[in-house]
This record gives sequence, C-alpha cells and structure tokens, in this order.
Amino acid sequence: MIKFTLNERAVEVDVPGDTPLLWVLRDELGLTGTKFGCGIAQCGACTVHVGGQARRSCVTPISTLDGAAVITIEGLAASAGRDNGELHPVQTAWIEAQAPQCGYCQSGQIMQAAALLAESPEPTDEEISAGMAGNLCRCMAYVRIRQAIKLAAASQSKGNKQ
Ligand code: FES
Ligand code: FES
Repeated sequence: MIKFTLNERAVEVDVPGDTPLLWVLRDELGLTGTKFGCGIAQCGACTVHVGGQARRSCVTPISTLDGAAVITIEGLAASAGRDNGELHPVQTAWIEAQAPQCGYCQSGQIMQAAALLAESPEPTDEEISAGMAGNLCRCMAYVRIRQAIKLAAASQSKGNKQ
C-alpha cells in the first residue's frame, strides 16, 4: 500500500510499485486532467507537481511517492489558496491569452508554468524557453503560451505589490 497526499488529501493505493503515477491518477483515482502523450518523459503532457517541483508522471513509479505531496491540475488552484472555484493565476492568464487550441497539452503546460513561476516569479524570455522546453504542443500554441506566462508573472507581481 502506497500512501501519499494528492491535492492535499491523504490517499492510499494498492497497485504494483512500478505503476506510473499517471495511470494511478487516471485509472485508480479518477483524475483525468493529467494527460498521456508519449509515456517516455518527452512531451510534458503528464506534468504534475511532486513536492512543489514539476514531474513527469508517466515515468514516476508510484513506489517512489510514499509520503510525497502530489498536486495535479485539479488541485492547482486550491494549492495556491484559491477556493470556491477561483482559478490559479496561471489558469486565469491562460484564459486571458486564449492559450489552448485543442487543449490536450495544456494541463501539462500550466503545471510546468506554475512550477517555473514559483521558482522564478519574473522569468526572462530565456528562462521561459528553458523552463518550458520539454512541454510540446502539437498545435504550435507556443506564442500564446508564452504570452500567458508573462501575463501570469505580471499579475502575480502586481498582486505581491498591493
Ligand atoms: S506523457 Fe509523460 S512526458 Fe509525455
Ligand atoms: S493545444 Fe493542442 S497540443 Fe497543445
């Protein structure tokens, strides 16, 4: 039995230890916001946070997560203190910039961007490029994704100054 917290709630799962976190989230725990893209840590569609860091859930064996704190797209807003359906600032910026096209890559993009902004609240273009390089978008929405990250950074900075 593996015990960890998922979106700030204690969970226990009884699956083989080499089961990837992605499939535990989707198949065992019913959280389908985290997507399968490549399965080999190359696309970023499956990105979640583990201990506040972006992590590719497709290559994270569940056995490595005993006692860990996992946040998925479903819990991102609450993890930042938002409640009653309020969105995380990165999600709000994503809507403002109309970043998604088909949307498939976008939960992973948002989780990666939120981790980037937590580490680097006002990232340079180079930092955005480096931080987001492993998150692929088949629809080529990269320009709008970058705009959204800049909007989120600006809104967080404004919020911090108020
Ligand atoms: S599905 Fe995990 S990185 Fe592509
Ligand atoms: S919005 Fe379609 S893959 Fe990124």
